[in-house]
Amino acid sequence: MSSKEELIARLNDAMAWELAGVIQYMQAAVMVTGDAREIYREFFHESSEEALEHAELVGEKISVLGGVPTVEPAMIRQAADIDGMLEAALALERDALKAWEDAHAVADAANPGTVFWIEEHVAEEQEHVDHLEKLTEKVSFASSDIDEATGQSG
Ligand SMILES: [Fe+2]
Ligand SMILES: [Fe+2]
Repeated sequence: MSSKEELIARLNDAMAWELAGVIQYMQAAVMVTGDAREIYREFFHESSEEALEHAELVGEKISVLGGVPTVEPAMIRQAADIDGMLEAALALERDALKAWEDAHAVADAANPGTVFWIEEHVAEEQEHVDHLEKLTEKVSFASSDIDEATGQSG
């Protein structure tokens, strides 16, 4: 496989995760019920639209390189409740981030325009992972640090 074919293959993996995102987030948007609907319907809807934009952009890049953009989404994770939907979203974003990182690893340094373009996507997917790690409370803080910060200890 030439380095260009390798890059096309990695970009197609990223595209497959973006296509999975379009479908997974849309299903979550229409299915989310209860109080969570007020908060998360819009979030899921916008995430689906953003994944569609990303899929189209990467499809443009694949095709200008002479590759055929995939029409096959990667794994779509489904959940019946909001906690499951957010965990599924985090897993999706981690897979998408990995795919973009893998594309970056094979991008030709002689083509800085493409390298920088991929880096922007890596940064965006990292933001999505960070946001979902907070939404799913993967991040926590020591109360002792809070006391220190507010100057109430000692
Ligand atoms: Fe994306
Ligand atoms: Fe994303």
